[in-house]
Amino acid sequence: MNEHPLHSAARKPRHIAIIMDGNGRWAKARRRPRTLGHRAGASAVNLSIDFCIAEGIDTLTLFAFSSENWQRPAEEVSALMGLFLRVLDRELDELHRRDVRLRFIGARADFSDELQTRMQAAEILTAANKTLNLCIAASYGGRWDITQALRAIALQVRDGELQPEQIDEALISQHISLADLPQPDLLIRTGGDHRISNFLLWQLAYTELYFSETLWPDFNAQSLQAALDDYAQRERRFGLTSAQLPDTLA
Ligand code: IPE
Ligand code: IPE
Ligand code: MG
Repeated sequence: MNEHPLHSAARKPRHIAIIMDGNGRWAKARRRPRTLGHRAGASAVNLSIDFCIAEGIDTLTLFAFSSENWQRPAEEVSALMGLFLRVLDRELDELHRRDVRLRFIGARADFSDELQTRMQAAEILTAANKTLNLCIAASYGGRWDITQALRAIALQVRDGELQPEQIDEALISQHISLADLPQPDLLIRTGGDHRISNFLLWQLAYTELYFSETLWPDFNAQSLQAALDDYAQRERRFGLTSAQLPDTLA
């Protein structure tokens, strides 16, 4: 994250983040329960992982469950928790075999002990894998992320390890989730809404935004390719003028 962003301004994104939205509407259109939409959404997750591996994308960050999603009806929340457990059990070995490194970002303590244990085990098992970083944002909120970073910094100040004058953007970035990864180059939101919904607020400062009408369960390799094609046309200026950009990017 400390690298100058221009270095990541290539035609192909290194890091794609996705707000996977529209599962409920997908199910409603079929007169089925919302939970069926979430199950269909899990298949779309597999497709997007396949796509990223095939395309040589370094990092895929998926918004699976927001800080605010806890306020949904209890049956939906509990169905989602069950789904997370089942999907993790079902897919972990295959992800590991495919050299995928799994990590979870968010307020982990909110989850059941069982889920927390599985998350940690998955991270440990896959820690050395290199082909794709797969980051799952669960019980995640951009405001939570900034808050936990500031709390960690405040503790260092309290303990005399840090002077307030030393707090700068680079230091905050080091405490924000995914600090060791390049910032997202491309954010995709499916499901037709044009908002961030408290996703990676700090990390998205210069991310290219792409909104798709397609509901998440219908989002496939073709949809992802369309997003990448759109991204390839963008000029990322990071506050500079076109003329200042390296020739390869202008
Ligand atoms: C996204 O789909 C999945 C989660 C938030 C867990 P939704 O469940 O929000 O689907 P819609 O937006 O109601 O269609
Ligand atoms: C965003 O979707 C969160 C996830 C995809 C996990 P929501 O459906 O919760 O977003 P809002 O409520 O429409 O903004
Ligand atoms: Mg939604």
